[in-house]
Amino acid sequence: MLDQFSPVGPFVHFKRTLLVLTALAPVRAHAAPLQYLSGAGQKAVPVVWLTWGLLIISIAVIAVIGALLAGAIWHRRGQAWVQGEKIVLQSHEGGLNWLWIGVGITAPVLLLTVVWTVKVLAQIQAPSGTPAVTIEITGRQWWWQVRYLSGDASRSFLTANEIHIPVGVPVRLKLIGGDVIHSFWVPQLAGKMDAIPGLTNETWIEASAPGTYRGQCTEYCGVQHAHMAMVVVAQPQADFRAWWDHQLTRPTPPQGAAAIGQADFVVHCGSCHTVRGTEAAGALGPDLSHLMQRTTIAAGTLVNDGPARAHWIADPQSVKPGSLMPSPTLSEDDLAKINIYLETLG
Ligand code: CUA
Repeated sequence: MLDQFSPVGPFVHFKRTLLVLTALAPVRAHAAPLQYLSGAGQKAVPVVWLTWGLLIISIAVIAVIGALLAGAIWHRRGQAWVQGEKIVLQSHEGGLNWLWIGVGITAPVLLLTVVWTVKVLAQIQAPSGTPAVTIEITGRQWWWQVRYLSGDASRSFLTANEIHIPVGVPVRLKLIGGDVIHSFWVPQLAGKMDAIPGLTNETWIEASAPGTYRGQCTEYCGVQHAHMAMVVVAQPQADFRAWWDHQLTRPTPPQGAAAIGQADFVVHCGSCHTVRGTEAAGALGPDLSHLMQRTTIAAGTLVNDGPARAHWIADPQSVKPGSLMPSPTLSEDDLAKINIYLETLG
């Protein structure tokens, strides 16, 4: 806390901010924006139409009121409003009619938006068919734990932040708050749904076309709320099945530098992270099995490449201050070997 009150505090924060912005630049350039004005699935399209409708109505209201105000000013220009200290109030014949016109237009428009909203809520309440997959998503400070559920327990597995779904079919989501309240939002696929500790909120998503859909935590959950992104990758059925099967495979034992890296990883990282099929079995941080299949690390904060991983492992607090990931005491050589090992997790 002392650091925050010292006069150098702001400069340290400025430096950190610059570092984070520099590190984020590649992600900003390559990631798709949230695109909440276009929908890609049965759950999202009615919401997007409603969004456009309300947006157009709101713009129309601003335009009409602006025009009336400008008209009133223009109409009364040059009139003497103030004589000496006294303000002269002039009432117009029939001026009250404007009030009735206003109420007459506003009331039906407001009623229409209420009816439209209720209709959309009813439309998206239930999926059109039985969901093909059920995924349990737990919001944690500040990343998403993703558990694929299966009737066959041996086909269940954990991953993080990147959610693969089959295209063209509904997918059931079970949302849980792991620590505080988070909110799951992938605007092109569905509206927002909170992830609340002690509750399981069910919702569903469906993607009408293959692609990568960017999402974001949308309930303030602490200092790194803004760095709590996720992506949904919608794939054709066969690709999705192949991806799932691949997630269940065990890593091949690494050789050479990667083998040393694995031993270092188990010692330094294994009490918080899991790599299935190894002695690293921690549950505090994201499961890193098949890490190289993910395009980003630190919940969408950095691209998943060698330099970004090295930067994140060596000094996570400079990227996400307040994150639960500590800086391990590692030599440059150990860090490089851990990175070589992580690259084998394809
Ligand atoms: Cu999690 Cu905001």
